Amino acid sequence: MTPVSYFPHKNNEMYVDDIAISDIAKQVKTPFYCYSSTAIETSYQEYKNAFSAQDALVCFAVKANSNQAVLATLAKLGSGADVVSMGEIRRAIAAGIPANKIVYSGVAKSQEEIHYALSLGILQFNVESEPELELISKVATSLNTTAAIAFRINPDVCAQTHAKISTGKAENKFGVPISKARIAYNQAAALPGIKIQGVDVHIGSQLTSLAPFAEAYQRIAELVTELRSDGHDISVVDVGGGLGITYLDEVIPSKQTYAEMVKAQLGHLNCKIILEPGRSLLGNAGILVSSVAFVKNGEERQFLMLDAGMNDLIRPSMYDAYHQIIAVNKGERELKTYDVVGPVCETGDTFAKARQVHESDAGDLIAIMSSGAYGAVMSSSYNTRLLAPEVMVKGSEFAVIRKRPSYEDIIKQDITPSWL
Ligand code: LLP
Repeated sequence: MTPVSYFPHKNNEMYVDDIAISDIAKQVKTPFYCYSSTAIETSYQEYKNAFSAQDALVCFAVKANSNQAVLATLAKLGSGADVVSMGEIRRAIAAGIPANKIVYSGVAKSQEEIHYALSLGILQFNVESEPELELISKVATSLNTTAAIAFRINPDVCAQTHAKISTGKAENKFGVPISKARIAYNQAAALPGIKIQGVDVHIGSQLTSLAPFAEAYQRIAELVTELRSDGHDISVVDVGGGLGITYLDEVIPSKQTYAEMVKAQLGHLNCKIILEPGRSLLGNAGILVSSVAFVKNGEERQFLMLDAGMNDLIRPSMYDAYHQIIAVNKGERELKTYDVVGPVCETGDTFAKARQVHESDAGDLIAIMSSGAYGAVMSSSYNTRLLAPEVMVKGSEFAVIRKRPSYEDIIKQDITPSWL
């Protein structure tokens, strides 16, 4: 799936399914996020098909996009959820994802969160440290229940991705070092309220090559064999997420090739495979639509000033991430070179430098592509800007799936103390 697969231009006008983006923009003011339900469904089915020969469960990484409509779309197709907080568990359950398809990751789970997850009977806790294991044991015992666990193993593999989204090196905060894994599992076996079920690994996000995955999974396979010889019953391997997407011209291995690699590395273990994809399911299923506020002729550069800012989509400022920027109506216009910036009072509020975009004027619509994952979920109301609404399209219908709040909604959350 490329950034434009589900947002093609027809007669120079960008569409999503059967609807022109400009028709949505007439009813929902910019900026707004727009998702294609068809793209999400197709992407999920690609995973299902790729893994049809294996006992595998797709648990969508809710952190990538936690809108109820997105989760309900995936729930209907049979998806589970990978969650990292009480809030994400609640969102998954509310959208119809059953507890027995929920895996719970995260480095600092609280007692309250563990209690809640145990009371629901989730599929698996992915345990990131020994103290966390002890807390889970304590809470499970107090509830007279048993927690099914996997340790998240840190395999010390370089994911070859952006440092801020790389998680599988020994210096990262995630998981139990592979060198200490056998000791950790032996400790777990001795604790009440704990049922050892599997092994979990997640080495990073936006991986464009299979090699780091293969290296990590090979180490995990060796570990599973060792753990079994230590007497532990390992029936699940959670392989995490991380498969990248095309933002510009990255060539990403297909889900089919990924599945074959998983089978080659882990198939002989006869374990159930859990997958935690986020970006590869949602990334290219969504865009951020904004309008040109002004075109400013600077001394050295032309600025395309948008009504969307870093508060709406923080990836370019935070990770220097590349997102294609495309005029919704290309018309007969020529390409021009712009710095594409937002309205927030920071120089970092820049989507792209020296980027070719079809010549645009104030009021023209601009699409920031590949924004379906880690877009809306990371947005904020910095500068007291209203959170951008989200829209989902299916065929010739569209629905606002998160509405724009009002200024009153925002201001009334603050409480002025009685002494003022
Ligand atoms: N499982 C675990 C335990 C994770 O930490 C993550 C992502 C995933 C699964 C899903 O990974 P994916 O398939 O989406 O690569 N905000 C960053 C990405 C942070 C990813 C954090 N963990 C960005 O915008 O690039």
